[in-house]
Amino acid sequence: MFTFSDDQQALIEAARATAQAELAPTVKADDEAELFRKDLFQRLGAAGLCGVPTAEQWGGLGLGYVEYALVIEEIAKVAPAYAVAVAVSGLPQVTLAQFGNDEQRARWMPGLAAGELLGAFALSEPGSGSDAGSLRTTAVREGNTYRLNGTKFWITHGGYADVYVVMARTGGPGPKGISAFLVPAGTPGLSFGKKEEKMGLRASPTVEMILEDAVIPVENRIGNEGNGFLVAMSALDSGRITIAATALGISQAALDCAGRYAVARKQFDQAIIDFQAVGFMLADMAVRIEQARLLTHKAAWLKDQRMPFSHIAAMAKCAATDCGMSVTTDAVQVLGGYGYTREYPLERLMRDAKVMQIVEGTNQVQRVVIARHLKRGWD
Ligand code: CAA
Repeated sequence: MFTFSDDQQALIEAARATAQAELAPTVKADDEAELFRKDLFQRLGAAGLCGVPTAEQWGGLGLGYVEYALVIEEIAKVAPAYAVAVAVSGLPQVTLAQFGNDEQRARWMPGLAAGELLGAFALSEPGSGSDAGSLRTTAVREGNTYRLNGTKFWITHGGYADVYVVMARTGGPGPKGISAFLVPAGTPGLSFGKKEEKMGLRASPTVEMILEDAVIPVENRIGNEGNGFLVAMSALDSGRITIAATALGISQAALDCAGRYAVARKQFDQAIIDFQAVGFMLADMAVRIEQARLLTHKAAWLKDQRMPFSHIAAMAKCAATDCGMSVTTDAVQVLGGYGYTREYPLERLMRDAKVMQIVEGTNQVQRVVIARHLKRGWD
């Protein structure tokens, strides 16, 4: 738990080398152009980085979430948008692994794990974000098909993905009336609306998704009717570990940049790191990262042990993403005016860090999950 095996260390180094070679050259320009390059994602897949925890039988590396978190952190150090791409494309994989049948797994998992296919996850709607159980998209059974109607919001990879896990209502109101479906790209009636103009994570497309009489075969339902909320929450429990890992990568990259600057930059005839105000700031940043990393790896380890982990994943998501925001903010401060310019990556990392406190459940929702877990223990 506290040291990495030789295999884990080799995986870290491979992920680092791939991210540097494939993602570093265009990360700045792609942020400015708001450009997502599917070919770069596919190259991460070719290096084995898109299906780390997926079973070898289904085309993955068959490793655990600890290894997955290590890989995602390395990608995020270079290009957070692609760490999120790997994380989000992992949601259909973990969903099918847990709730799918063998036909669905055989159809989608090898391509997703290889990064040849890009996955997406469609839960949120214009009127239901944190209150996911109130979603209004409908799926009406008609013989051997379902007809889907509704609008999904904030869809990472909307219009780029090859397959979408879509939560839609098949029954009455509330969480128990929801089912989960696989909706392939190209399904008639599936279209995409506005692409969001975001503060950060600009190379990651966030798009409105429209379902207008989109008809899919009944075989595309994941699990039973009415278990869609469970499917979504289970996927997000795992996803929150990957968002935490992304925030760790952002934090570490910001600390390394600020630290190197503080060693090289001289004012009043000494390196600014030797001023206690700056040195302590860097030390506090390192403490926060180390705390968040331990919690993230604990959540991943619990999942790998098949032990209850959702409340620890929520803690890790809060800790790592709050860490990301505070560390990137302080890193900008260490560089002063230079930190505020686009000459350095820190302003971009700070913008990217902000959304990590929001995606896959706001940090307020994480605290709801944690508080409810605590309450159950005290009842
Ligand atoms: N695992 C298993 N079951 C769970 C669960 C979990 N993690 N969370 C809840 N459930 C079960 C509950 O036990 C309950 O079942 P019973 O009725 O049988 O007891 C049922 O689901 C309903 O649970 P709640 O009463 O707790 O539901 P709620 O309506 O109060 O909502 C919530 C709880 C935690 C706030 C939840 O709605 C939530 O997580 N909201 C945030 C949604 C979210 O993260 N959205 C992000 C979308 S993805 C994204 O960001 C974009 C992208 O591209 C990836």
